[in-house]
Amino acid sequence: MTKAPIPAVLFLAGLLAASPAPAQDLEWQSYKGYDVPFVPTPYEVVEEMLRLVDIKPGDVLYDLGCGDGRIVITAAKTYGIKAVGIDIDPVRIKESNENAAAAGLAGKVRFIQQDLFEADFKDASVITMYLLTSVNMRLRPKLLEDLRPGTRLVSHSFGMGEWRPDKTSAVETPYGDERDVYFWVIPANVTGRWDWDLTMGSRTAHYVLEADQEFQAVTATVREGDWPVSVSEVRLSGDEISFRIDAESDGKMVSWLYAGKVAGHRIRGAARPAGDAKAAPVTWTATRNPMTIVAIAK
Ligand SMILES: C[S@@+](CC[C@H](N)C(=O)[O-])C[C@H]1O[C@@H](n2cnc3c(N)ncnc32)[C@H](O)[C@@H]1O
Repeated sequence: MTKAPIPAVLFLAGLLAASPAPAQDLEWQSYKGYDVPFVPTPYEVVEEMLRLVDIKPGDVLYDLGCGDGRIVITAAKTYGIKAVGIDIDPVRIKESNENAAAAGLAGKVRFIQQDLFEADFKDASVITMYLLTSVNMRLRPKLLEDLRPGTRLVSHSFGMGEWRPDKTSAVETPYGDERDVYFWVIPANVTGRWDWDLTMGSRTAHYVLEADQEFQAVTATVREGDWPVSVSEVRLSGDEISFRIDAESDGKMVSWLYAGKVAGHRIRGAARPAGDAKAAPVTWTATRNPMTIVAIAK
């Protein structure tokens, strides 16, 4: 168990002062020195969090610091997915289990009493959080390291510092205030040097792509042999990467659109000439020199 630093407490207190909620919602007495006090997410915000993560059959959701279990229970009840709540406070776990039983979900959801910093939630495909920016920041390395690329993350009110969200929305609550909801996708790490060959018409070119990355933002340079090649529209979402390369093919300059899935030190996908819907895509496999990978959180 980690003691919350005073400024974090004051920060949440400030937020709550700016966003009044009924007195019975605020259980300051039960703060007990945990990282975050228990303050439930209004149901309107729960709905928006679940809408943003776009729940699909087979998803496994974890609410980190689950409070009274409302996010877990709503997800399981509305979408029929597996959902797990983790909370350090045994009172919250008891309450969550009682609420799940009342909702007819006993045995269909799980609540674990544990410090979220020590918990194993590697099998999650969706993570929900209502913590504090300072706690999110401490949790960030674990989220980036433990979760599979493509895992969706949503946080009520609090961001992740310089890891900018992929989407943001705002919800009005019955308390007359507006809450921000932040959404991220865990990015694959595509840093380093990637090599591949591509046959275009009568010739085969050898390409080298060097990628730099900060969280989900990727910049790349490409060369063919010793010649720099124009690369643009580099996009990464989870384990899916795409970009455009301009290449000379049979005496003409042609833009090639690449799209592929990253798995470890390999990207497999297809490339096709832009603007030629009839052209058959060419299979494309790139491999990375494992020595060139670097961290994506500076
Ligand atoms: C702001 S409440 C959010 C409750 C719920 N997720 C919701 O949105 O309604 C934060 C919860 O995190 C729990 N918590 C605080 N520190 C924790 C820790 N280190 N590990 C697990 N849970 C923690 C608190 O007990 C509290 O229930």
